[in-house]
Amino acid sequence: MTNQSMHEALGGEAFFRALVHEFYERVWADDVLRPMYPAHDRAGAEDRLRMFLEQYWGGPTTYGEQRGHPRLRMRHAAYEIDPDARDRWIACMRGALDALEPAPLLRAEIEDYFERAATSMLNRNPLI
Ligand code: HEM
Repeated sequence: MTNQSMHEALGGEAFFRALVHEFYERVWADDVLRPMYPAHDRAGAEDRLRMFLEQYWGGPTTYGEQRGHPRLRMRHAAYEIDPDARDRWIACMRGALDALEPAPLLRAEIEDYFERAATSMLNRNPLI
């Protein structure tokens, strides 16, 4: 895959639009996650996540131009992200990947990233 970006290999903007849409379909059906998200701005939330992911995987840098530095842990501090919320988030993303079926090696890479990124967002531990 020489110089091709993951963004390009996965299918460019169309892939990320579809992925984020499938993801939010599942988030909106999840009793724990849905209340955290802006009820009247699902389109905006889809855009923000899509632009971030496109930028992260080597696509356009629109996210940075519009939102600045991601600072994702800081931006997530307001939400109670315990292991259950993390697992639900990952399950929604896995469901979205199941729906789109990217090639196995690409899927392994993006899924591994989502697992690590979601774990890094943990900010509550029910055991403490
Ligand atoms: C925003 C929840 C993990 C990337 C948000 C928002 C919520 C949320 C409620 C606000 C929606 C909006 O108005 O944009 C969660 C929960 C997670 C999680 C419960 C569970 C671990 C992640 C991960 C990533 C991510 C793993 C990246 C791979 C983003 C981005 C935004 C966002 C880019 C928009 C930030 C901005 O305002 O520019 N998240 N998130 N989130 N999340 Fe997460």
